Amino acid sequence: MCSSPLQPTEAPLLSALALAAQWQHVSLHTPGHKGGTGASQGLIDVLGHLALVADLPEIPGLDNLFAPEGPIKAAQTLAAMAFGAEETGFLANGSTSGIEAAILATCGPGDRILVPRNVHQSVLSGLVLSGASPIYLNPTYSADWGLALGVTAEAIATALATYPEIKAVVVVSPTYEGICSDIAAIAASVHRHDAILLVDEAHGPHLHFHPDLPQDAIAAGADLAIQSTHKVLSALTQAAMVHVQGTRINRERLRRALTMTQSSSPNYLLLASLDAARHQMALDGSALLTQTLKLVDMVRSRCQDFSPIRTLSAAAVAALPGGFVLDPTRLTVDVSPLGITGFTADEYLHHQHRVTVELPTLTSLTSIFSIGNTTADGAQLTAALRSLVDQADTLEPFTHQRLSNLIQPLPDLSQPPMGPRDAFFAPQRAVAIPAAIGQLSAVALCPYPPGIPVVLPGEVITPGAIAHLQTVHQAGGTITGLADPALATLQIVAQP
Ligand SMILES: Cc1ncc(COP(=O)(O)O)c(C=O)c1O
Repeated sequence: MCSSPLQPTEAPLLSALALAAQWQHVSLHTPGHKGGTGASQGLIDVLGHLALVADLPEIPGLDNLFAPEGPIKAAQTLAAMAFGAEETGFLANGSTSGIEAAILATCGPGDRILVPRNVHQSVLSGLVLSGASPIYLNPTYSADWGLALGVTAEAIATALATYPEIKAVVVVSPTYEGICSDIAAIAASVHRHDAILLVDEAHGPHLHFHPDLPQDAIAAGADLAIQSTHKVLSALTQAAMVHVQGTRINRERLRRALTMTQSSSPNYLLLASLDAARHQMALDGSALLTQTLKLVDMVRSRCQDFSPIRTLSAAAVAALPGGFVLDPTRLTVDVSPLGITGFTADEYLHHQHRVTVELPTLTSLTSIFSIGNTTADGAQLTAALRSLVDQADTLEPFTHQRLSNLIQPLPDLSQPPMGPRDAFFAPQRAVAIPAAIGQLSAVALCPYPPGIPVVLPGEVITPGAIAHLQTVHQAGGTITGLADPALATLQIVAQP
C-alpha cells in the first residue's frame, strides 16, 4: 500500500523491477534461464544480458497482477489517472485478452450483444468463450476507399429498438486506418437503453493525450475501453490496458475474467513497459504528439504531389456521411491508380527503400506514425513514395476492378441461426463450394477489400457471399478464415 499520494512523475513498477533486477540473490525460482546465466548465447546476443536479468516473476517486491497491492496497483492507479479512467488494468496478453475478458464480464450464455461485422477476431473468441448471442451490425462502408468506416449512433439506436434485449454493444474505434466513430453519441444511445458500451480502442491509446486528436472512448462516455498500448505508444509488444468507468461493468467479474484470458505468469518486462509508457505520456505526451502530428502533416502534404496516388485525409473522412473523424497519425495511401497492388508497393518500399509500413491491402498502404518517428523517417517515406510513383511501370501490373461494385450488400442487422459458440463446438466438415450454399459456416470468412466478413460463424452461406469471395479471390485479394486457400471448399457446420 502506498502511504503518500501517487505522483505522475513516479514509475512505481518500473522502479520496482529495476530494484529487483539489482538485488543479488540465488534464483531458485522461475524463469529457468536464471537471470540469463542459463540462457543460450544466441538469446543473450539478441536481447542483451540486462533484459534477461530483469525477466523476473512475482518475487517479493514485485506484486501480483491478479491481486495487486504494491507497485502494480500503484502503476495501474497512475495509469487510470493519466488515461482518464476510474480504474485501469494492465494486460500482458494484448488487447486480445482484454476484449475476451470484457465480453466474459458483461455477457453470459444467451445474452444478446451487438457486434459490428468488422470486429477483430478476439471479439468472436469472446463470443465463443461466453456463449453470448450476437446480433451483427453491418458497419458503414466507403465504396470509394474500399474501407469499413465504423458505426453510427443512428444505426445503433435502430439495433437497440429492434432488439431491446441487447445487453452490451461492441464498437471498434479507431479502425486500423484510424477512422473513429462518434463514441459520445453512441454512448448516449447505448446508455439510454441501459446497455453497456465496450470500445475496442486497440488503435487509440494516444488519443487521450492531445487536443488535436479525436476524443478517446472513456472521455466520450464508454463504460470500458481496451487499448493496445504497444501498437501506438512505447510499451513492448503485447502490453495493453483495459480502462473502466461507471457502475455498469461488474469489476469483480472483469477481474476474474482477466485471470481466465491471461497467463498466470505475466511478463514483468511487458508490465513495467506499460508503467514506463504511461509515465512518458503523463509527463510529455502532448509535446511528443505535437511533434508526431507535425511530422505526419508534412508527409501528408508532400503526398499531395504524388499524383496519381491519393492519401486519406481528415477532410476526406469528414466529408463521408456518418460523422466519422480521422486520427491523422494514420496515413493511408491508395496506390491502385498506379496499376499495382498494395502488396507489390509494400514489397518495393520494404526491399528497395527499407521503409516498412503496417498494413498493405490490395489497393492501399497504411502507415502508423507515433512518437517514435523522426523527421528522417518522414523524409524516407516520401522519397520512397516518389520513387514508387516513378517506378510503378516497372513493377508487377495489376488491373483493379471496381470491386466495390461487385460487393453483395450485407443485411444492416442480422441474427445468425447458430451462435458462434455452438458453431465452434459443432462437428464440422469441408464441402465443395456448390454444396456449401445454404449451410452454416463454421468460421468467419473475411475478404479484403473491404475487411468486412461476408460470413460469420453460424451464419448461412449465401450465393451472394460465395460470389463475393470468388470475386475477391480471383482479383488477387486476400480472404482470412479460409481453410482451403484455393477456395474450392468451405468449412461448414455438419448438421445431423
Ligand atoms: C481492432 C483490433 N482490436 C484488437 C486487436 C488485438 O490487439 P492485440 O494485438 O494487442 O492483442 C487488434 C490487433 O491487430 C486490432 O486491430
